[in-house]
Amino acid sequence: MALNRRAMLGTLGGLAFGGALAATVGKVGAAPFDQSSAPFGWTPHKLDPAACAKTAYDGYWFEDYGCCYGAFYAIVGTMAEKYGAPYNQFPFTMMEVGKSGISEWGTICGALLGVASAYALFWGRKERNAMVTELFRWYEKTAFPTYDPGDAAKGVKGPLPMSTSDSVLCHISVSRWCYANKKEQSSKDRSERCSRVTADVAAKGIAILNAKIDGSFKPDGKSEAVAYCGECHGKGKTADNSKGLMDCRPCHSGGEATQNKFQNHP
Ligand code: HEC
Ligand code: HEC
Repeated sequence: MALNRRAMLGTLGGLAFGGALAATVGKVGAAPFDQSSAPFGWTPHKLDPAACAKTAYDGYWFEDYGCCYGAFYAIVGTMAEKYGAPYNQFPFTMMEVGKSGISEWGTICGALLGVASAYALFWGRKERNAMVTELFRWYEKTAFPTYDPGDAAKGVKGPLPMSTSDSVLCHISVSRWCYANKKEQSSKDRSERCSRVTADVAAKGIAILNAKIDGSFKPDGKSEAVAYCGECHGKGKTADNSKGLMDCRPCHSGGEATQNKFQNHP
């Protein structure tokens, strides 16, 4: 059903206008303006993960736009290069906001934000959430970086040390790698590491996208920690106060570097 603003205005007539209309429109779930395509309505295309990994890597370095732009461009930019509209209508530079965990804040790894955002052009949350969970859980468990650009390296050539972050957060992912490998977060090595992680994330994100298009995508994305803690902190359980699906352990392990020692834990 196509509902646009003009149709709404026609239906509502003199009932509401201005802010009141916007509120009404929000409530009934109609589109606030006439979109050029249906919500989540772009058509996804299968892509070559290896070729796009290189695009992601290069995208990271292009104008220093960073991880989120690189990962997003590897998917939607590649579709734009191959198929034109509507993909080439996207204002790609807006994805630069995700760099360094969104404008330097170290929250979500921007490469993950880039891929999740690309999925959202094609699938609403009912289908997308399982794909995002698959990607994010894989990120928590994987030792990075694996991509090696060889002589085409733009920051630092040669192999880099790898580490597993147990976390989707830029802060934990980067800081753990720096600490474990005695690197400065402001170093070229760290930029090179993140550009390679961007390539890794784009390749994995595209493998998931391809499987989804083929109909062979099998959601897994389980976490023992989240399942275990969720027995009490999950929806409808005795202590239903923990929001989210991130692995709990990096922050609540009671380890030396964490603050929470479970003082009051039953
Ligand atoms: C990125 C770090 C991080 C992750 C991951 C994380 N938490 Fe937390 N959590 C925190 C912080 C910080 C607080 C606030 C602590 C405070 O109030 O001092 C908090 C608060 C809580 C609280 C409320 C108690 C309190 O002391 O405020 C519970 C319960 C909780 N987390 C459970 C979980 C569970 C279960 C998971 C995994 C599903 C999880 N958390 C994942 C950092 C994290
Ligand atoms: C058997 C049930 C149960 C399990 C399993 C459980 N919790 Fe809790 N947790 C509780 C209850 C009950 C409280 C107290 C809630 C309150 O005070 O309102 C609590 C409190 C907390 C708090 C805040 C108090 C504190 O001591 O720091 C955090 C953080 C927390 N849990 C994290 C976790 C994490 C992380 C896991 C998984 C490793 C986990 N919990 C597993 C029942 C559980």
